[in-house]
This record gives sequence, C-alpha cells and structure tokens, in this order.
Amino acid sequence: MIQVNHLTKRFGPKTAVNDLSFDVQPGVVTGFLGPNGAGKTTTLRAMVGLVRPDAGAVTINGTNYHDIPAPTHEVGALLEAKAYHPGRRARDHLVALAQASRIPSRRVDEVLGLVGLADAGKRKAGTFSLGMAQRLGIAAALLGDPPVLLLDEPVNGLDPEGIVWVRTLMQALATEGRTVLVSSHLMSEMALTATHVIVIGRGKLIADSSIEELVRASSGSRVRLRTPLAGALVPRLQAAGGTVQPGDDGALLVSGLEPEAVGDIAFTARAPVHELARVEASLEEAFMELTQEDSEFRAQGVKGQGVKGQGVKGEPAAPQGWGAAAGTGVAGAGAPAGAGTGGQVGTWPGAPAGDGAPASTSTPTAQGWPAARQGWSRPS
Ligand SMILES: Nc1ncnc2c1ncn2[C@@H]1O[C@H](COP(=O)(O)OP(=O)(O)OP(=O)(O)O)[C@@H](O)[C@H]1O
Ligand SMILES: [Mg+2]
Repeated sequence: MIQVNHLTKRFGPKTAVNDLSFDVQPGVVTGFLGPNGAGKTTTLRAMVGLVRPDAGAVTINGTNYHDIPAPTHEVGALLEAKAYHPGRRARDHLVALAQASRIPSRRVDEVLGLVGLADAGKRKAGTFSLGMAQRLGIAAALLGDPPVLLLDEPVNGLDPEGIVWVRTLMQALATEGRTVLVSSHLMSEMALTATHVIVIGRGKLIADSSIEELVRASSGSRVRLRTPLAGALVPRLQAAGGTVQPGDDGALLVSGLEPEAVGDIAFTARAPVHELARVEASLEEAFMELTQEDSEFRAQGVKGQGVKGQGVKGEPAAPQGWGAAAGTGVAGAGAPAGAGTGGQVGTWPGAPAGDGAPASTSTPTAQGWPAARQGWSRPS
C-alpha cells in the first residue's frame, strides 16, 4: 500500500502538490489522473524519493522510500521512459541496474522477454523508438519483482498491441496482490485498465473513488426513457427532482433520478414504457466535469465544447422540432419544448390534450430544455 499524507511540494512560487492525501490499495490497478501540470509526476517522484517534500510524507508499505533496505525489490517505477545512456545497449542498461541491486542477470533476460524486447537487447537504447523505450522502462521497473509499481504514462507511444499488453500486465500484477499506480491521459484506456482512480488538479485531491462511482455521479450519467407520453411525464419527472433533456430519437434523458424512480413515475402516470435504461457517462466525461475548473492549460478557441449545434460531447443535440427557440433557454436547463418565444414551437410526442400535463405551456425560463443551437453547456 502507498500512503500519501498531506504532501506539499513547491518549486519557487509554484505549489506543484498542495496538502495531498490519499492511499493506494493493493490488488487493483489505480489510475492517477489530472490535467497537465496537476502534480502527478511530482507526486510519483516524491514516492520514490526523487522529490523532497516541503511538508507531509509518502510511505510505501509503511516505510519512507529512503528507509527501504532494498528499494528495487520493493518499488518499481517508470517515471521517464528515456532514463538511460543512449550509447548503452538495452540489455547492458538492465544488467547495470540489476547488478546495483544484486539481481541475477537471468532476470534481465526474463524481463526483456516479458516486455517483448528479447530480440532488441543488443541494440543501443538511444536508437529505440518511444514505444521501445517505454517497454525498456517497464522492464527496468519489473527487474526486482516488486510488490509496488508506479508507472507514469506508460502507454505513451505504444502501438495498439503494446497498449493491450500493458493493460493486461498491470491487471495481472494487481491480481497477484501488488499495488499498481498508473498515470495516464487516455481516459478510455484508463476506464478499461483501472478499477479505482485518484484525480488531482492544481496539486489538490479532486476525487478518490472507484471508476464506477465516479461515472455514476457524473451528470453525464442519465436514465433513458422512451414513451409515447413523454410530454405528460416531463413535468412529473422535473417535480421529482429530475432534469430532463431530449434524446435524439424522441426518448427522454433524465438526470438526477434513478431508473427505479423514473419507472415508478411512468407507472403512476400510466405512461407506456417502451424503453427504460441507465446510460452511463464515459470516464472522459466524468473527468472533464470534475477538472474543468482545474485545467491550467487550455487551447484558445477549444473549450471542450462540442461543435456548434451538436451539443457538448456526450450530450445529445436537440432534435429538430424539440426544444426552445435558439437563445431562449437557460444553459443546461432551458425551456421545455413548446415553450420557445421565438415562434419555433416544439412538439412533445404524446403530449395529450387535457391530460393535465403542462409541458407545452411552461415559460422559457422554467427548468427544461437547453437552448439547443447556441452551444450547450454542461449542467452544473
Ligand atoms: N523541477 C521543477 N521545477 C520547477 N517546476 C516544476 C518542476 N517539476 C514540476 N514543476 C511544476 O510543477 C507543476 C506540476 O508538474 P507535474 O509534472 O507534477 O504535473 P503532471 O500532473 O505530471 O503534468 P503532465 O500531465 O503534464 O505530465 C507544474 O506546474 C510544473 O511546471
Ligand atoms: Mg507528468
């Protein structure tokens, strides 16, 4: 287990890591996520004594790294892929590391084979591609067969086969009971690899949770309901605390309510249910939502928003004939269909006359639909 306790690291005026605390448990792959400059590498470096904390501490299985008698056998780290002499042959690089830790050279051949570099061991490491360098770095981390592994963006530069291999390797190592902490910016890959994630931004902890919980808590996770009486149900769903948006095929996308509640509301309203399903957000959506305030570096003109008229990534674009006239809705909570003031009146499927459903008479500022074609913003 790794324990980070109130870790703080400053570089001059810059606080790279700010009173950061979390534990990394053995037996699962833990993803270490955060925008560029969040402090991930600094934290990983502090774990192996390469950064001296200004405050706080990190322990590996209860011991400070500098006090571990044979650290190579306790912690393996890949922090910098090309941390080798470029003129040295790959195998010789590993042999030098092995000798320093009294590891027999047969282990060198073992790890070279494990990372797929058995045939490249005699090549000078300086001629390696980024992907090969990553593999060599992983080989070095595995040399001492350590129970704790720290990998900083290990799949950078790897080909698809290599990415799958790293994923399988990390999961296998975790299944053996090891502690595996891996940083990455590839959210889809992290979602496949890790079980738990630590998310940091500007050096501070943002989330420490299972991926499942993180994704479920995201506003991008919704319940999809398809019913011919959608119009009658919208106000009822809103009254129960749900936020309702139109799906691209006439379905309702409800956030803030569990599928059971949505189903019960439909049942009470005697609305036939043609489809009821939980739609989970992607890890990328959850991550973007969590870190939107903490991204220090953002390209101008690209704000993570979708193409105009298409909605934020993961958000459906409002279909024609649904929703308020452009510009009349509140961001993320615009007017219900049929409420547009600009003359473009949407039609609720199944909004029955005299049913008592007020869906098509609400004001534009009531909770309801986003101003679809003005570029959506994520509900807060
Ligand atoms: N040796 C250093 N000297 C000065 N500033 C540093 C040093 N190392 C890191 N920093 C600063 O600390 C902050 C955190 O950097 P760090 O490399 O830990 O971020 P990161 O989360 O790994 O980012 P990335 O995703 O881009 O790899 C950054 O603002 C960085 O510029
Ligand atoms: Mg980094």
